[in-house]
Amino acid sequence: MKRSHTCGALTAESVDAEVILCGWVDTLRDHGGILFIDLRDRYGLTQIVCDPDDSVESAETAKRCRSEYVLQVKGKVRARPADMVNEKLSTGAIEVVATSVEVLNESLTPPFPLEEAKAAQVSEELRMESRYLDLRRPSMQQRLRLRHKMAMAIRSHMDSLEFVEVETPILTKSTPEGARDYLVPNRVTPGTFYALPQAPQQYKQLLMVGGMDRYFQMARCFRDEDLRADRQPEFTQIDVEMSFVEAEDLYQVVDGLLAEVMDASGHGRPELPLPRMSWHDAMERFGSDKPDLRFDWELKDLGEVFANTGFKVFANVLKQGGVIKALNAKAQAGVTIKQVDEWTELAKRHGMGGLAYIRVQEDGSWKSPIVKFFSDEESDALREALNIEPGDLILFAAAPWLQASEFLGKLRVEAASSAGAIPEGEFRFTWVTEFPLFETNDAGRLVPMHHPFTSVLPEDEALLESDPGAARAVAYDIVLNGVELGSGSIRIHDPELQAKMFDLLKISEEEKQSRFGHLLKALAYGAPPHGGIALGFDRLSLLMAGGDTIRDLIAFPKNHKGIDLMMEAPSTVDAKQLHDVHIQLDLPQVAAEEE
Ligand code: AMO
Ligand code: AMP
Repeated sequence: MKRSHTCGALTAESVDAEVILCGWVDTLRDHGGILFIDLRDRYGLTQIVCDPDDSVESAETAKRCRSEYVLQVKGKVRARPADMVNEKLSTGAIEVVATSVEVLNESLTPPFPLEEAKAAQVSEELRMESRYLDLRRPSMQQRLRLRHKMAMAIRSHMDSLEFVEVETPILTKSTPEGARDYLVPNRVTPGTFYALPQAPQQYKQLLMVGGMDRYFQMARCFRDEDLRADRQPEFTQIDVEMSFVEAEDLYQVVDGLLAEVMDASGHGRPELPLPRMSWHDAMERFGSDKPDLRFDWELKDLGEVFANTGFKVFANVLKQGGVIKALNAKAQAGVTIKQVDEWTELAKRHGMGGLAYIRVQEDGSWKSPIVKFFSDEESDALREALNIEPGDLILFAAAPWLQASEFLGKLRVEAASSAGAIPEGEFRFTWVTEFPLFETNDAGRLVPMHHPFTSVLPEDEALLESDPGAARAVAYDIVLNGVELGSGSIRIHDPELQAKMFDLLKISEEEKQSRFGHLLKALAYGAPPHGGIALGFDRLSLLMAGGDTIRDLIAFPKNHKGIDLMMEAPSTVDAKQLHDVHIQLDLPQVAAEEE
């Protein structure tokens, strides 16, 4: 037997047992000839005592050990003296007196210290280069275990609701989820390429046509897009699709699923049903389609307050059909001038002329470059609308509705987080429903807000002819603490309507057939009404675990440039491999010179 117990197993009840433990040297302390080793494995730490009085040989071996050596220790469990008991460790009541220490493997000195406090000071890049060492840290192991527990809870819950997990291809044709595709050259037919799936969107719809009724998958997705703390080029979705359903059915399934996940993660079940608000309300009140509900600071429309204002900036915007909105950053009157300057720059980047604000002094008086333009009635109405109290900071935006709302929405989160006004440890979910069907891209063209398979809200169907930009979709997001966890919609199941959607999106007949012909054809063979959603599993894991980046919840993540620093992927390949897949390189100048 290599080991009789793990390093987290022994307690006071094990005293006098003869045991064999295996693990890594976490720390080694020499107390005048008696050596203490903290031996570590996935399950915990056990203190090993190597006393030459008990075994000269083990003490000798221990002496030449270094951090991260792999040991097998045989010995006897004994109770620690009362004043040496460590309440923080599950094994803190005991130690193992070594009778034999065998070095199973030596270790080079790690490139960074693995102790939690010290590792946190080290650059993430350095840790990613030796990810296998970083993974030895208890905090990393805890996160991966939590992720596993969540996956188990999800699979078991979906199974109990008769969802079937179906794997869909990784080598496929691109689906329009909005990012660039990763392409894979095809050796057999020169000049053709597979795309890695951005999501299994079309496959899951085709599974509904195939009569599968309830599908889910822990699906790998690949997107070539700008990376951020909550975005990786490959990530995992909890992908769901159901037949013969309305949005309401989807909400119920996901509500139940998230309650299970919260429970499995040790956070308790949220009250169900999870709250819902329309996209319009979310933008109006929070200036975001992913509102963070852990704090108030709601945006207020001040159109009535300033309907007849003499302040030109506001009057002009109102005259042009824009809005005046404001946000009360509670107790933030003391922010620095530098901070206000930064926010003013943000306002300008959002196309506003500047940032009007009021600092409310402790005596209740207002300090502001603009209040001199307000009448007494306006000031009173403003005070009431925003519940203004001494110490508050009022921030205004005057612009078209969406622009003003989005800017204040950003400011709301930024100001609250720099003020420390966002409570930790709270979980505030919300559904955001009735998204617009389309948005206008930079070139002024209509593009789907979600994807082109999304159905229109029945009462807005006529708008497809008259004013498609105003039509709402049966599309919904589930949001937690200001993070978009998942997105979905009820799909179009009528091939004619789907074809019309492609027309509205100005997708040519040729492209329609070459990219979506299979789907249009399948819809024509009795496709059931269906809908679904996909939740970002990495993001969900991060929210359950706490922390800053989904990279910490992924065993082998890529850095912000999409590089796996440990494997050094992506990498060049040899000429023969390129020749086989009929590829000739045409590199940009700089990269070519580096070759
Ligand atoms: P969508 O593109 O909104 O919808 O993606 C769904 C969820 O996946 C997560 N996500 C990501 N997580 C990590 N890194 C990324 N690069 C990344 N991109 C997306 C987010 C997001 O909410 N097929 C549709 C779903 C449907 O209609 O059923 C889809 O993929 O949490
Ligand atoms: P001005 O008359 O341009 O000096 O602007 C008066 C005040 O209104 C300044 O504090 C500006 O920062 C602010 N301001 C200008 N444009 C806007 C806007 N669109 N929204 C909010 N505040 C603005």
